[in-house]
Amino acid sequence: MHIFKHYVSFVPAIIFTQLSKNITIQLQFEMAKDYLKPKSGGIIIDASCGSGLFSRLFVKSELYCLVVALDFSENMLKQCKEFIKQENISDERLVLVRADISRLPFVSGSIDALHAGAAIHCWPSPACAVAEISRVLRPGGVFVGSTFIADVLPPVIPLLRIGRPYIDQITGNNTFLSELELEDLCSACGLVNFTFVRNGFYIMFSATKAS
Ligand SMILES: C[S@@+](CC[C@H](N)C(=O)[O-])C[C@H]1O[C@@H](n2cnc3c(N)ncnc32)[C@H](O)[C@@H]1O
Repeated sequence: MHIFKHYVSFVPAIIFTQLSKNITIQLQFEMAKDYLKPKSGGIIIDASCGSGLFSRLFVKSELYCLVVALDFSENMLKQCKEFIKQENISDERLVLVRADISRLPFVSGSIDALHAGAAIHCWPSPACAVAEISRVLRPGGVFVGSTFIADVLPPVIPLLRIGRPYIDQITGNNTFLSELELEDLCSACGLVNFTFVRNGFYIMFSATKAS
């Protein structure tokens, strides 16, 4: 059952990814960089980095004094490390950390920026995770996340709402939150100036730790 859930959990994200194909990784990176511009030179966490697609781009950009590639999965971190080696990326400004997004091993108010690409729908508790992100960010620190929103087919929305707990149980994907829910979540956790860009199912959003 566990293995079944593990594989099924990727299905919705894969479908959404396929349907949002014009949002290339490079484009997502450029969008994230724009949101993160005020935090250049600081410490950035690429949370739920997976194979380090974005962590590697953050390091190569040389825009940050330190990039923390963080994931809960040891296997994903191993893969990330392998790609770093293959691409000959210097690890001078890069550290790999295994941690749960809801229990980050960082001092409160010590991080300038946190990026979480295609991840919030995979977290067991988005609410605990965003509260923890807010805790570690410095005042003025920036949180940038991307996920998918299942509201493109309006007639399906009421069905999704009713079926959400069952879908979540089967797929292991916690929730594909709405824009409003993402904004509420951020503001409940002390993150302000919520803003987002939508393209089909895809959303990239940003919020700032209140000063
Ligand atoms: C869809 S992948 C996204 C990977 C990467 N950000 C990207 O865009 O290619 C989601 C990642 O979330 C990680 N994840 C799931 N639960 C987590 C948790 N509680 N804490 C930290 N990472 C978690 C998974 O291990 C996986 O690598």
